[in-house]
Amino acid sequence: MILVFGQSGQVARALSRDKDVVTLSRRQADLSDPEACGQAIRQHRPVGVINAAAWTAVDAAEEQEAAARVVNADAPAAMATACAALDIPFVHISTDYVFPGDGDRAWHRDDVCAPLQAYGRTKRAGELAV
Ligand SMILES: NC(=O)c1ccc[n+]([C@@H]2O[C@H](COP(=O)([O-])OP(=O)(O)OC[C@H]3O[C@@H](n4cnc5c(N)ncnc54)[C@H](OP(=O)(O)O)[C@@H]3O)[C@@H](O)[C@H]2O)c1
Repeated sequence: MILVFGQSGQVARALSRDKDVVTLSRRQADLSDPEACGQAIRQHRPVGVINAAAWTAVDAAEEQEAAARVVNADAPAAMATACAALDIPFVHISTDYVFPGDGDRAWHRDDVCAPLQAYGRTKRAGELAV
């Protein structure tokens, strides 16, 4: 079974069409409590974990960057730590908001990151933490 965080989100709803996927709602695992996310992984014993949950409210992140950082960086870090301890793969999803927004071509994964606003900064912190 593959465990997916972010049950109600766009990405998780697409993933949940696979019968091997179990999704977790905010009530089952709140990313504002990173340790609860690690605990959920240990309880479910999946063969892999996908984090499709995130603070995606770009404008609200400007006012509440610290809270967004817990969800977008500290919780994924706790998930990655739990997966490493169980020796299972962990997939975390990036965003174009980690890039500065200039240029005239599609972004490459190795392009230099330079987020312009809080949402991008918290997502970049999550990538580095994972
Ligand atoms: N969709 C895109 O076009 C796009 C583009 C680039 C990157 N991404 C990335 O893809 C990933 C998934 O995005 P999405 O578009 O599927 O997002 P979304 O539709 O906005 O869904 C976000 C999910 O995260 C959950 N969530 C938010 N805060 C939470 C918390 N504290 N505890 C538990 N769950 C929480 C939401 O649950 P609630 O319903 O309870 O709020 C929802 O299920 C994100 O990492 C995002 O950065 C998406």
